[in-house]
Amino acid sequence: DMGGHDTYMHKEISEQPDAVDRVLRGRIDDRFSTVHLGGLNLDPREARTIRRIKILGCGTSYHAGLIGASLIEGMARIPADAEPASEFRYRNPVVDPDTLYIAVSQSGETYDVLAAVQELKRKGARVLGVVNVVGSAIAREADGGVYVHAGPEVCVVSTKCFTNTVVAFALLALHLGRIRDLSVTDGKRIIEGLRKLPAQIEEILKSEDEIKQIAAEYAGAQSMMFIGRVRGYPVALEASLKLKEISYIHAEAYPASELKHGPLALIEPALPTVAIVPDDDLLEKNRAALEEIKARSGRILAVAHQPQAKADHTIVVPKNEDELDPILMGIPLQLFAYHTALAMGRDIDKPRNLAKSVTVE
Ligand code: M6R
Repeated sequence: DMGGHDTYMHKEISEQPDAVDRVLRGRIDDRFSTVHLGGLNLDPREARTIRRIKILGCGTSYHAGLIGASLIEGMARIPADAEPASEFRYRNPVVDPDTLYIAVSQSGETYDVLAAVQELKRKGARVLGVVNVVGSAIAREADGGVYVHAGPEVCVVSTKCFTNTVVAFALLALHLGRIRDLSVTDGKRIIEGLRKLPAQIEEILKSEDEIKQIAAEYAGAQSMMFIGRVRGYPVALEASLKLKEISYIHAEAYPASELKHGPLALIEPALPTVAIVPDDDLLEKNRAALEEIKARSGRILAVAHQPQAKADHTIVVPKNEDELDPILMGIPLQLFAYHTALAMGRDIDKPRNLAKSVTVE
């Protein structure tokens, strides 16, 4: 049942305010400015001994894991990184007892992720799951974890589950941070930011008509570049994946600072750039990248907190706490991919060559 929407993708994009509300519900503890995560199965003493966090997932879940790693590193000050589960599996990784492993999956059935979890457990590692489907294989195999509560996701391309997974990571980061060195003040600040998310997502969804008009101008492109810096880079990766999956436009994502190390050679009027430009301490650096692109006559669509003079179009999103901005900046680009693909007559819910869950090697 699509509930009045033409596609599941559109339905699922629209459900995000409610979905985010669900992942937050019942978990915030205002008394201690932290969150409770019932199924985590990690007591505070153990949480203090973690030396490193390694996040594993595929596709969109890997991208959510990249943002998760930066949230954890930022709030809990635990070194953290994310890696595609299949890469991890095949490189005979060093499995370290002081590392906490986190498997991320919407379906909970992705074979590469499941196999990585089983291998880690065989070697005695502690593995948590950040999973959407309750009772799925990865959820059952993990020692504990955080359910994402995005609700059923039918469309092959993941949208609401990506957003909810990142929010689940923000909760985990806050939880670990408050057991370690994150201050009460910062805990409160993050909680206030989290509470603002559903209404801010609602506000972004209201700009759909404007995004649709912008998408019409890019729909004929052969290829598109996506750039972001630090927190913005995983947003660029995810937005470029969305565009590829449903529009079949070639797209690639680069850290903004890497442009000058090669890809700048590609920039010309026929290769538009989508730039993630949050209003944070890197704003001036990001603006400099826009100038470099404009100097080569590249067209620019910015996703930013204020209109960007060098951009041909800016989609303005509401500002949250710096740490939580990536959650909001990806959402207009889901709609951008959607309307670009629609303008090109693509079958949004059934992109060619893809399956909802990849349960084979
Ligand atoms: O169910 P999972 O989250 O484990 O799936 C992982 C990927 O296969 C999935 O995210 C894929 O990249 C989607 N088509 C993204 O839209």
